[in-house]
Amino acid sequence: MPTKRLKKRSGAGSKPRLTLIDHPLIRRDLTLLRDRSTPSNIFRSVLRRVASLMAYQVTDDLNVRRISVMTPLEKTTGFSVSDSVILVPILRAGLGLVGGFVEVLPEARVGHIGLYRDEVTLKPVDYYLKFPRRLRPALVIVLDPMLATGGSATSAITLLREKGAERIRFVCLVAAPEGVDLLARTHPDVRVYTCALDRRLNKQGYILPGLGDAGDRIFGTAE
Ligand code: PRP
Ligand code: URA
Repeated sequence: MPTKRLKKRSGAGSKPRLTLIDHPLIRRDLTLLRDRSTPSNIFRSVLRRVASLMAYQVTDDLNVRRISVMTPLEKTTGFSVSDSVILVPILRAGLGLVGGFVEVLPEARVGHIGLYRDEVTLKPVDYYLKFPRRLRPALVIVLDPMLATGGSATSAITLLREKGAERIRFVCLVAAPEGVDLLARTHPDVRVYTCALDRRLNKQGYILPGLGDAGDRIFGTAE
């Protein structure tokens, strides 16, 4: 799958830390998601499909162990995933990515972080946390379609670190440069995966061109 490693815009460390997943099928699906006329039911199914496509890239360095398997004809060597993977969607909109990830990672465990962005201050407010045991040494993949100011992602990752998580990745569909910069400063070791790096935020903190309010589009709450 074609990917581009973009140079970090700021923050510590010398390794590029933003991966742009730039596959033709993802570009097509992102266009459907951006389209204001796409109804919630189609939005949800397209988001799930994009999430599965992204999951391949995000997990391309998972460790596997050799196992023996008996085919109908003879014994051979196969593989099982030896890393423990924990998916952590940020409620609400992150839930839209979980189905696509668990489809290709059925052994993953799932935690939840409830956060919403205050409409006036744009600061994240947390209201729910539930994580599986043994966050360390698992690979923890935080899911949220939108990285806007970066406040929600930063706060979610800080909460996970306080509970012991060490190997953390952040997956979004659309990122704004402002959010990428904030994450690079606050959590420079966390790799960010996105399908698009958009232009900027508007005054209300929405990504331009973006796709609007992801939670409302998934759950139909603006209709
Ligand atoms: C959206 C989105 C992110 C957050 C991104 O959630 O799903 O969690 O905004 O913005 P930020 O980078 O500026 O923090 P929202 O706060 O709208 O909550 P919701 O998913 O419950 O609608
Ligand atoms: N949250 C969203 O859902 N969309 C944006 O554009 C910014 C934050």
